[in-house]
Amino acid sequence: MGEQGESAFKILFTEEQIKNKIIELGMQITRDYKGENLTVIGILKGAFIFAADLIRQINIPVAVDFIAVSSYGSATKSSGEVKIIKDLDISVKGRHLLLVEDIVDTGLTLKYLLENLKSREPASIKTCVLLDKPQARKVEVPIDYRGFTVDNVFVVGYGLDYDQKYRNLPYIAYLE
Ligand code: PRP
Repeated sequence: MGEQGESAFKILFTEEQIKNKIIELGMQITRDYKGENLTVIGILKGAFIFAADLIRQINIPVAVDFIAVSSYGSATKSSGEVKIIKDLDISVKGRHLLLVEDIVDTGLTLKYLLENLKSREPASIKTCVLLDKPQARKVEVPIDYRGFTVDNVFVVGYGLDYDQKYRNLPYIAYLE
């Protein structure tokens, strides 16, 4: 068993698979936003590693900011209540926004943030999601750039936690 108890994990996506996918996503985003004022917004905490790797595959000038929302327990999750606990530092009015998320489960976090950010009058908003879990969806949200689709399993690693642990795993795994 490894130091982090990894033997209980089944690897879903290796470090190399993730890297190759992000190269692809970065190429698409570079192509689509050439000549535009792109701002990438990472949703903390889960997306911090994905956002950091993604922006290094985007080959145009890009502004980066982060927003943190409250993490809710399963009981309150269904209410759709999301609270911003760290807002953006920069004004996004007139800018092209790309919201970067590690995973979309119910869709409630992304839906809330899309509505909130739209009210700030950006030029456009799109979403880039590393993991899409469609079976868990409660509300429809647009996913413009998608890394992988996953079954309804509990995934950890590459930014995703279980009880705040395992964000530092370089791969994505699920707990058996
Ligand atoms: C996770 C993930 C997304 C959200 C997705 O964040 O990073 O932000 O849940 O779930 P949803 O589609 O059902 O809204 P979490 O609340 O665990 O906080 P964290 O990013 O700080 O780990």
